Amino acid sequence: MGFVVAIDGPAGSGKGTITKLVAEKRNLVAIDTGAMYRCITLDCLNNNIKPTDIDGINKILDKIKIELKLENGEQKFFLNDKDVGSQIRTKKIDDYVSLFAAIKEVRDKVTPMQQKMGDNQNIIMEGRDIGTVVFPNADVKIFLDCSAEERARRRFIQNQKEGIQTSYEEILNNVIERERINSTRDIAPFVKADDAIVVDSTNMSIDEVVETILKIIDEKLEK
Ligand code: DC
Repeated sequence: MGFVVAIDGPAGSGKGTITKLVAEKRNLVAIDTGAMYRCITLDCLNNNIKPTDIDGINKILDKIKIELKLENGEQKFFLNDKDVGSQIRTKKIDDYVSLFAAIKEVRDKVTPMQQKMGDNQNIIMEGRDIGTVVFPNADVKIFLDCSAEERARRRFIQNQKEGIQTSYEEILNNVIERERINSTRDIAPFVKADDAIVVDSTNMSIDEVVETILKIIDEKLEK
């Protein structure tokens, strides 16, 4: 196994951005596991399969092809040979993905794929169950926390920039409900690993979070 950094945290904690920056600075391959659940959700919805239809989901999982390719340092996700980078970031996928990600069959498909990615390369993998289930023996485990109010505030500002009309209250309820589904599911719930180091990004800039995580990684590398 290569060197593995696991980063778990809720949506809006800055995980994606921070993972990419840390990866660049320490020459690690960044892997966004949420995108894999998003690909499965997209494939199911495109085929009119609901999260309650386990037979339908199994048929999709039997023939699904999810690939992560690095192009000029950018992670690109291909679903059944198509680049689905923007299609997996729509509101519809946001609304459904936590329901599909709670299904055992879906996680049984994705988890071994993620474990394989750590076989022969040094990685930083972000998600919800990386330090608890995917890599319980990761070299470094970070739990990137952030208050729901701050996460909602960040999303609200982002939406305003993109001209999307939603109230702050609506976003706040939404971020709380989504992570409630992720945290209370039976399989691989989103919880802090006992040995994870908590970094709370609520009142920190992106640079401050990156510096904090780099220090934690470097301490481990020096040992
Ligand atoms: O990080 P994200 O918002 O792109 O994740 C999308 C969904 O997938 C979210 O509902 C949480 C879920 N997820 C998960 O259950 N386990 C992971 N390792 C990563 C994401």
